[in-house]
Amino acid sequence: MSSENIYILAIESSCDDTAAAVMHNGKILSNIVASQKIHEAYGGVVPELASRAHQQNIVPVVSQALTKAGIDKSQLNAIAFTRGPGLMGSLLVGTSFAKSMAYGLDIPLIDVNHMQAHILAHFIEEADFEKPPFPFLAMTISGGHTQIVKVTSYFDMEVIGETIDDAVGEAFDKSGKILGLGYPAGPEIDKRAQLGNPKAYKFPKPKVEGLDFSFSGLKTAILYFIQKEVKAQPNFIEEHLNDICASIQYTIIGILIDKLKLASKQTGIKHIAIGGGVSANSGIREALKKGEQKFGWTTYIPKFEYTTDNAAMIAIVGYLKYLEGNYADQSVMASARLKL
Ligand code: KG4
Ligand code: ZN
Repeated sequence: MSSENIYILAIESSCDDTAAAVMHNGKILSNIVASQKIHEAYGGVVPELASRAHQQNIVPVVSQALTKAGIDKSQLNAIAFTRGPGLMGSLLVGTSFAKSMAYGLDIPLIDVNHMQAHILAHFIEEADFEKPPFPFLAMTISGGHTQIVKVTSYFDMEVIGETIDDAVGEAFDKSGKILGLGYPAGPEIDKRAQLGNPKAYKFPKPKVEGLDFSFSGLKTAILYFIQKEVKAQPNFIEEHLNDICASIQYTIIGILIDKLKLASKQTGIKHIAIGGGVSANSGIREALKKGEQKFGWTTYIPKFEYTTDNAAMIAIVGYLKYLEGNYADQSVMASARLKL
């Protein structure tokens, strides 16, 4: 089979973003994301509203991706889609759409694991971004995930640590809710943290053995702390918001870096790649830079639009699987708890 001119259409609908991308030989031609604003009013993703919005968005998003890429659907070699993990109703929309379109065009269908896609996003061809060499450690940090994965090759990955409760993005968002910030709160906490003192308040770090994470205790500690301070001083939050945000962020980053240090020590791997929405955080970026100097790490962060949920990362997995002839058949089903 010639690998000269391969066009892949990719569809991602695992959570609250409807996304489609077109890839040509590993390079992205278009990467469209329709974010669902409807969830902001609820302070979190409402699954039923998400699947309904996916149904409305999917046709225009896919057709926009094809138009922007400047190709006709008849030129596509395969259709890749997120099979899981994610919200079942949301996954079903993308899965059914991809299955029907591949069937209609009579081209291969390729199922993609969303967590694998966050990691392989580092292999999208991009001029100013270096790809991590194997083996490397991948840490995926977002509103839905917190994982450290040992990556030996494209398709040989082992989860060596993950959260036992909340994801790190949830820790940011739930802390923000306690402080009365909008959803998602991560970006605002980050902005304010840069203006505050990270050592103003001390929050406990969870005592979780090994490489697993826990963030729910931190959220409770922050809640009790705020309740106590506000009782004594009603304007406590308004008057100290930047310091509170800086201290929360400092604690969260400390938890992530401690686990990365341990993972690097245990595996002897110093190439560290991060992905997921929280990798936009200025504190984690700074801490990784410090890790390069202090521990001899080389760190990798993909282009911002490939870190949050997107279809470009689904496309790169689709492309790599296409080259191996690793296709799904029409009996494939969405899987909410799909494992790496
Ligand atoms: O990857 P993403 O867009 O969606 C998924 O959850 O899959 O990640 C969104 C999460 C939210 O929890 C948001 O608060 C957090 O990423 N986030 C940040 C920052 N930007 C986004 N957290 C901390 N600092 C940021 N700059
Ligand atoms: Zn994700």
